[in-house]
Amino acid sequence: MVDISKIVNKVILGDIRTIAASIPDNLIQSIITSPPYFGHRNYTGEEECEYEIGRESSLEDYVANIVSCFSVIKSKLCDDGLLWLNLGDTYRNKELQGVPWRVAFALKESGWILRSDIIWKKPNAMPSSVKNRPTTDHEYIFLFSKSSNYYYDADSIREPHVTFTENSKMRGGRNHLGKRNGTPENGKNSGDQNLHNGRWDQAFHPKGRNKRTVWEIPLGKFMEAHFAVYPEFLVETCLLASTRKGDIVFDPFAGSGTTGVVAIKNERRFIGCDLVKEYQEMAQKRIDEIVAQPSLFSAERNLQSRLTLVKTAQFDAPSKIKN
Ligand SMILES: C[S@@+](CC[C@H](N)C(=O)[O-])C[C@H]1O[C@@H](n2cnc3c(N)ncnc32)[C@H](O)[C@@H]1O
Repeated sequence: MVDISKIVNKVILGDIRTIAASIPDNLIQSIITSPPYFGHRNYTGEEECEYEIGRESSLEDYVANIVSCFSVIKSKLCDDGLLWLNLGDTYRNKELQGVPWRVAFALKESGWILRSDIIWKKPNAMPSSVKNRPTTDHEYIFLFSKSSNYYYDADSIREPHVTFTENSKMRGGRNHLGKRNGTPENGKNSGDQNLHNGRWDQAFHPKGRNKRTVWEIPLGKFMEAHFAVYPEFLVETCLLASTRKGDIVFDPFAGSGTTGVVAIKNERRFIGCDLVKEYQEMAQKRIDEIVAQPSLFSAERNLQSRLTLVKTAQFDAPSKIKN
């Protein structure tokens, strides 16, 4: 029997395919991670390292290694758990390789259920000198589930409504909100019961609209890391939607420990793994600092600062929303 107090809020040093054995099955509620991208970096600094992901000589080997990592981890995830996988693409011989989608299809074939492809748009992406194609300023986040029935808290990550706001072509509609029969009956929306009766308010959730699949989030910064860390806000969005307070979040490729930092700030528990001692120690130090000063970070404060929702006073409880 594994004593989980020995691995909770710890970053374990080693190859995830070996380390996974030290984690009990069905322990983890959410995996939030960014594995090394294909052919981008040498994290170990070694000429050759058979365990290091991303250094494979072929894309096929990279995809196979990623699949083997996530196959080993899958049993550690609760049946209603989720996997958020951040991946960027690679050019080889001036040709885009389509790495994220190749990985996504391979994971699907290995039994993971692909639920969403999210574009992470980076408004502060590094400028590039390319002149014969657009500059890449996005990466992917794939959302996978282990089963069709999983925990997902849509309300925790809703975003402000756009329809009927100043930026909407339907901004005039605000005047009709909450007024039965207050809308023009013969317009392009005739026949829609919610809209037709002037109960447009019922088509709108009081906490905002459901999260969309393009997330515009600036790149993160953590000075001590020699590589790009993913932003806390990005991790927090995944975390809030897929866990409750106290749940365990796992990052098999912890790097500087961003997932752990966000998990603990939001009163979740964390387990991490990294192959490289320098990063394992860096991540553990960040996590220990936050565990030692929990009062500096409150989940409520984080939540309030991340969402600016429209005023909801006039909205009724949500009713049937047509898909
Ligand atoms: C893209 S970085 C993660 C960055 C992290 N998301 C952050 O914000 O700091 C990927 C990490 O995977 C680690 N890694 C590479 N191969 C690994 C393996 N086989 N098992 C565990 N970790 C590995 C690397 O050392 C590196 O720190």
